[in-house]
Amino acid sequence: MQKMVIEGGYPLSGNISVSGAKNSVVALIPAALLANGVSVIENVPDIRDVYVMKDIAEELGAVVDYKKNENMLIINAAPARKTKVSEEKAGRARASYYFLGALLGRFGKATVPMPGGCNFGGRPIDLHIKGFETLGATVTEDEDVVVATTKDTLFGQEIYLDFPSVGATINIMLAACRAEGRTFIRNAACEPHIVDVANFLNAMGARITGAATGTIRIDGVDEMHGAVHSVIPDQIEAGTYMIAAAAVGKDVTVCNVIPRHMEFLTDKLIQMGVKVEEGGDSIRVSACENPKAINFTTTPYPGFPTDLQPQMVTFLTVAKGESKVREGVWNNRFQYVDELKLLGADIFAEGQNATVHGVPFLTGAQVRATDLRAGAAMIIAGLMAKGKTVITELEHIDRGYEGIEEKLRAIGAHIQRIEE
Ligand code: UD1
Repeated sequence: MQKMVIEGGYPLSGNISVSGAKNSVVALIPAALLANGVSVIENVPDIRDVYVMKDIAEELGAVVDYKKNENMLIINAAPARKTKVSEEKAGRARASYYFLGALLGRFGKATVPMPGGCNFGGRPIDLHIKGFETLGATVTEDEDVVVATTKDTLFGQEIYLDFPSVGATINIMLAACRAEGRTFIRNAACEPHIVDVANFLNAMGARITGAATGTIRIDGVDEMHGAVHSVIPDQIEAGTYMIAAAAVGKDVTVCNVIPRHMEFLTDKLIQMGVKVEEGGDSIRVSACENPKAINFTTTPYPGFPTDLQPQMVTFLTVAKGESKVREGVWNNRFQYVDELKLLGADIFAEGQNATVHGVPFLTGAQVRATDLRAGAAMIIAGLMAKGKTVITELEHIDRGYEGIEEKLRAIGAHIQRIEE
């Protein structure tokens, strides 16, 4: 079993670089299957979810060459013929549901077992299914296996999402690219990776406009071809390092970021008293003496992202005063709070609300990474705490952070992974 050991209290300083976005690349790989040709995806992060999505693409018959040292995936989707994802593979990454939209779009049928991934309570895919059905597909769910088929072709339609779901927006976009006629997705999600996926699809011959506006228009095309695309920087990884720098940084520059994607966080950190300076493609963050408590609610983009909620709450554990946090996206995303309490945090969480009372300092302890972003939060907690913190269940962290220990060590963190 691997464990991460962190000796807390060492200030961070220097440059830390952000990799390609996890949530984007896990959609770009299935998107590549819409083409009858070769696509090249650049700036691919070396994370476990990429391997899972690559394995599924190969299972479906695509030929994938992962040039890890060049952060590049070359996907030849021409030989792909199969339309069924195995249960074992689908269970390893939540994003496996994107193969539903891609396979339905290209072959008119798709069989995908219900996905795995982080457990934040119920993670229904009813909005994805409603979208496919509106486009004319027949969708059945039997023992957690989703089967979507269309007799002839999909037809463009108006689809309204009750909630701006990231997954449903991308999945419907994937299927609608090959539908006959025009589709509108209303109340669509606006996260940066929605735009990234739309840009890739357009480079492949799709006709999509309005990504990031809340209404996405897709004019169906008969054929799509391979394309070259570079993944945008990971907004959540960038935010994780910004929060770490705010908590224990002397002077840290987070490089390879799109500052506009980080405004929700920049604003909150400044409110807490942290010094934040935006550059062209970097953000410089310096910790302050006595960070102030703040309130925040997670909402879809451009609001404060749920995927940075655990990291921000971790920082708030030492902010002076009382902070109130509302989780507005998931119904069970405070499981990690019990771990922070082991380090001495004073947090009361109930349902989708948490109240944090700042304490003077955290003290190292043994904690679990209960999910991907909670794992990142434990790392930040370990950097902040006095003494030694040991983190277990690292497989969650490895799903989505490329070389996180190496990157943090390079700016002064005392962090190592040990095998036991
Ligand atoms: C994506 C992200 C995840 C992030 C989440 C919210 C990926 C691979 N994962 O997940 O890291 O936490 O966005 O920013 O990009 N919902 C329904 N029905 C549906 C779909 C969603 O009710 O059919 C609800 C969910 O239960 C949840 C909310 O909508 O309460 C948001 O879900 P969604 O945006 O779809 O999240 P994911 O795409 O799964």
